[in-house]
Amino acid sequence: MAMDLIVRSGNIMTCEEGRPIEPFDGYIAIAGGRIAALGQGEIPPELCRPAAKIINARGQTIIPGLIDAHTHLIHAGSRESELDLKLKGVSYLDILKSGGGILDTVARTRKATKEELKKQAQKSLDQMLLHGTTTIEAKSGYGLDLETEVKCLLAARELHEEHEVDIISTYLGAHAIPDEYAANPQGYIDLMTEQVMPFVSRYKLAEFMDVFCEEGVFSPRETRVLLETGRELGFKLKLHADEMVPLQGAELAAEMRATSADHLLAASAEGQDALVKAGVTAVLLPGTSFYLMLGRYAEARQMIDKGIRVALASDYNPGSCPCENLQAIMTMACFGMRLSPAEILQGMTINAAYALDRAADIGSIEVGKKADLAILDAPNWEYVVYHFGINHVDKVIKNGRIVVEKGNLV
Ligand code: NIG
Ligand code: FE
Repeated sequence: MAMDLIVRSGNIMTCEEGRPIEPFDGYIAIAGGRIAALGQGEIPPELCRPAAKIINARGQTIIPGLIDAHTHLIHAGSRESELDLKLKGVSYLDILKSGGGILDTVARTRKATKEELKKQAQKSLDQMLLHGTTTIEAKSGYGLDLETEVKCLLAARELHEEHEVDIISTYLGAHAIPDEYAANPQGYIDLMTEQVMPFVSRYKLAEFMDVFCEEGVFSPRETRVLLETGRELGFKLKLHADEMVPLQGAELAAEMRATSADHLLAASAEGQDALVKAGVTAVLLPGTSFYLMLGRYAEARQMIDKGIRVALASDYNPGSCPCENLQAIMTMACFGMRLSPAEILQGMTINAAYALDRAADIGSIEVGKKADLAILDAPNWEYVVYHFGINHVDKVIKNGRIVVEKGNLV
């Protein structure tokens, strides 16, 4: 088989589940957008016939393309106007209760056209790619009504076709109770289960569904109904669980056999045990702890020690973490959660692939997987976590093609 591209580096980090990450000195050969061969040492001459393009990445570090398993990509506008309130000590849930927060973004997202939403999201996707992210999950949840949720999910689907970054969609209609249902929350739940979810499922607009199970948002009882309906409609499940108030969200995610349980700052010890037993991936979001000034982080260390598969994501959204850059999140995971650089890499590659049910296809450098790689201008992986606040990406390879070169989009 003719190779399209071969990369040679002294420092390749493969990330298989359950195996320690050992950098190796070798090559990765790519054909047809997939990893066709890899090995230690110099490139075998037979791989170079007929001539393949060779990238010399000696002195640099190669990792699998980063996977951001939790984002709220599609939304209109921004919320820097909340900074002042936040600094005065008004909490996230209080801002939401007074009609701001998520609901402020909902109002703007309803007014925006699909093209406007795509234009804003495209800018974020460019930033993600420039920072080494090659696949993301993207939630809806800033439309809430049928028309706007569909508009947002269609925007994500079109961007998936048009942009280099792969997008996996999640329906998060249960993100907040919209104003028009403030006096009748059950009416909104009925709207979702009877109209919106069947529509989203029939037209395959989302692979996953998610619920913001939180005090003052959706109760565990409501969440259960929503997840059960979602499962019957064929959605894979995710859950914003135990983000701020402990509501046994982790237990519920485990019982429902969700693919992932996300946030988990307030998850109980029993909830954590249930996640291990059920094989649910925990998606932890250190950027959100930082940005909400919560003064604490999810118990990542304890979760890993218990045997929970821990993924790390940005939670990119306009309120609680306006940040597309996973490299920034790495440093927060390191110092906020005391995770090692190896654990962080696993959390943003193979474990994140599990959180999206894509572990057979992406998340590690293995023959047969997609050739999604980030080449970092760093002498070793630890250096990337250590030297924070700059972009270490030199090149990004997506589906075997160079899409970022010298830190710029190609
Ligand atoms: O994951 N927790 C709920 N949703 C988002 C925040 C959304 C927003 O504030 O706009 C989160 O933190
Ligand atoms: Fe979130």
